[in-house]
Amino acid sequence: MEHERCRRLGKRCVILIVFFVVLIVIVAVVLGLTLCQNKCEFESTFLSRCEKFNEYDCKKVWGAFQQAYVNKNSCKVPVEAYDPLIAAAPFKPQCNKTMFWSKTKDVVHGLTAKRNDCFVTLEDTLLGSVLDGLTWCGKEGSKDVACGDVTAMLSGSIDEPFDSTSNFASVEVPRFKAPRVKKLNVVMVIQNNAISNCTDPSLKNLTQALDKGITYSCKDVPESQIQECGAKPEIACGACW
Ligand SMILES: *[C@@H]1O[C@H](CO)[C@@H](O)[C@H](O)[C@H]1NC(C)=O
Ligand SMILES: *[C@@H]1O[C@H](CO)[C@@H](O)[C@H](O)[C@H]1NC(C)=O
Ligand SMILES: *[C@@H]1O[C@H](CO)[C@@H](O)[C@H](O)[C@H]1NC(C)=O
Repeated sequence: MEHERCRRLGKRCVILIVFFVVLIVIVAVVLGLTLCQNKCEFESTFLSRCEKFNEYDCKKVWGAFQQAYVNKNSCKVPVEAYDPLIAAAPFKPQCNKTMFWSKTKDVVHGLTAKRNDCFVTLEDTLLGSVLDGLTWCGKEGSKDVACGDVTAMLSGSIDEPFDSTSNFASVEVPRFKAPRVKKLNVVMVIQNNAISNCTDPSLKNLTQALDKGITYSCKDVPESQIQECGAKPEIACGACW
C-alpha cells in the first residue's frame, strides 16, 4: 500500500521535473535568441550608420567599439579604453561649423540637415550619429569638441535658456578651451511664445562658465529666419542671422 503510493508520487515527480526542465530549456533558448538578435541588430545598425561616413574603416571601428564597451559597464570604463575607438574614428570637428544646442534639437537638426555646408552638430559626426540617443559616458572622455567659432542655439521659449543641468552646460561648455575655441556665438531661437532672450540672467552664468579668452556674443533670431536659411541654400552661411 505504502509502496504503491510512493511509486505514484515518484512518477508525478518525474513528470514535474521533466516539465520544468523543458520549460527552462525553452526560456533559455528564447532568451539566448533575443540577446543574440539584439547584439546582431546593434552591430548591423552600427555598421550601416557608420558606412554613411565613407572615410572610415567601419569593421575596425566596430572592433574598437566592442573592445571599449561590450560587456562593460560603460560608466566605469577608464578613459584610456576609449583611445582605440577615438583613434579609429577620430572626431573631425570642423572649425567654425560646430553647432551646439540645448532644448532646440528640432530647429537645429532641421537646419543642419539642409545646410551641412554651414553647420554640423556632434550628432552629424561619426560617433555622434552612431551613438545618438544612447547615454554614453565615454563622450565625457573626449576633450576636443570644437574649435574656431562655435555656435550654440538656445531656446527663448523656456525660463532658463542656459540650464546648468543640461548636457550643454555640464558636458560641452566646460570643454570649450581657448585658444582652440575663439568665439561662442549664442543664437536665441525666438518663437512666437518667447519668454526669454539674450538679456536672460541665466546667460550671465554662461559667460562666467566660459573659459577666459573665448569671446561671447548673443543674438535673438526669429525661428522663421532660421527656417529660411535652411530653405534657401543661396543664403551665405554668415548671412543666416
Ligand atoms: C573661422 O571664422 C573666423 C571669423 O569669421 C575666420 O577668421 C577664420 O579664418 C575661420 N576659420 C576657419 C578654419 O574657417
Ligand atoms: C527681452 O526680454 C525682456 C524680459 O523678458 C524684455 O523686457 C525685453 O523687451 C526683451 N527684449 C527684446 C529685444 O525682445
Ligand atoms: C546660475 O547658476 C547657479 C549655480 O549653478 C544657479 O543656482 C542659478 O540659479 C543660476 N542662475 C540663473 C539665473 O540661471
